Amino acid sequence: MIPVILSGGTGSRLWPLSRRAYPKQFLPLLNEQSMFQQTLARLPETEVEAPVIVANEDHRFLVQEQLSAIGKAPQSILLEPFGRNTAPAVALAAIEVARRDPRAVMLVLPADHAIDQTEPFHKAIAEGMKVARDGNLVLFGITPDRPETGYGYVAAGNPELEPNESRPVRQFIEKPDAATARTLLEEGGYYWNSGMFMFRADVYLAELKKHSRDIYDTVLLAAKSLEQDMGFKRIPAEIFEHCPEDSIDYAVMEKTTRATLVPLDAGWNDVGAWSSIWDISNKDDQRNAVFSDACLRETSGCLVHAPDKLVAMVGVEDLVVVDTKDALMVARRDCVQDVKHVVNELKSQA
Ligand code: GDD
Ligand code: MG
Repeated sequence: MIPVILSGGTGSRLWPLSRRAYPKQFLPLLNEQSMFQQTLARLPETEVEAPVIVANEDHRFLVQEQLSAIGKAPQSILLEPFGRNTAPAVALAAIEVARRDPRAVMLVLPADHAIDQTEPFHKAIAEGMKVARDGNLVLFGITPDRPETGYGYVAAGNPELEPNESRPVRQFIEKPDAATARTLLEEGGYYWNSGMFMFRADVYLAELKKHSRDIYDTVLLAAKSLEQDMGFKRIPAEIFEHCPEDSIDYAVMEKTTRATLVPLDAGWNDVGAWSSIWDISNKDDQRNAVFSDACLRETSGCLVHAPDKLVAMVGVEDLVVVDTKDALMVARRDCVQDVKHVVNELKSQA
């Protein structure tokens, strides 16, 4: 099995710590390793070949340094000149993998998530392997515990099966509004789309060709003229710019009849916004997650990240305070999804 790590995102909801030049997946946010490194470090040790990394060309040295710091040699590092979302990124990796073995199984992992327990994760991978070898497209599904609007939901068939057994995917609902998310949770039978997938390279390419022909054709053309550059493979911008932008969810998984859900119960969390960092961090008895020298009085439910400052907070609740050298961000914890709008506004002013 060949791990494919997607690390082309910019992580704008974790501003001001996550920056375009140094996005969240490369930051040591949760412990001394970055999420990119942890994604590779938690893979099973057997039957796993060297990974294929698909990243933005601006991050090539970060990728290289972080791989060598954990002693991992990649099979390839594919560099995109700009992001065209996940369907083309996975296609580039699939063509790369298929050059050696078209029937090889790829395990596609985003570089920005946390998984608490490795053992059930490895079990789900072993189950996924069987399903993928038979020519299906595996999606790892998480049992939802709240009406989260930042994830896609997947309806799965055969509710009579044991909770950990694989089952056919019936329907996709990408990022519903709050009311729909609550209804789905009450109805039951829905899983969160973890953004982790498993399939044979030839099967993904055949399904992409069938359902998103433009992406398939453009990526195939781009992959024919990869530029080799000091251990990197660069995707030519003049071809890739014609590639339509689409996610693997919309371009392939929603349309294929071969989507199969493998349930995953391993303490999964998409580390997308400051609220997720608060969710998975150790907290004091007032539910404050503190990554700084801090003096907090009558303060609860806050996240404080200010490595170079002493922070004092008095009489406040449910705030996120993040300080960096050149920017300070204060937000209500339930509004942090909107930090990306600040980033967009700043970008348009620049
Ligand atoms: N190489 C590359 N190129 N990687 C990319 C690109 C790209 O153009 N765009 C996104 N990625 C990477 C991101 O770095 C991230 O690791 C992963 O692909 C997923 O992209 P996100 O942009 O974070 O997607 P999302 O969180 O909005 O939604 C997806 O993930 C959710 C779970 O985390 C969807 O699959 C949802 O349905 C799902 O619930
Ligand atoms: Mg994400």
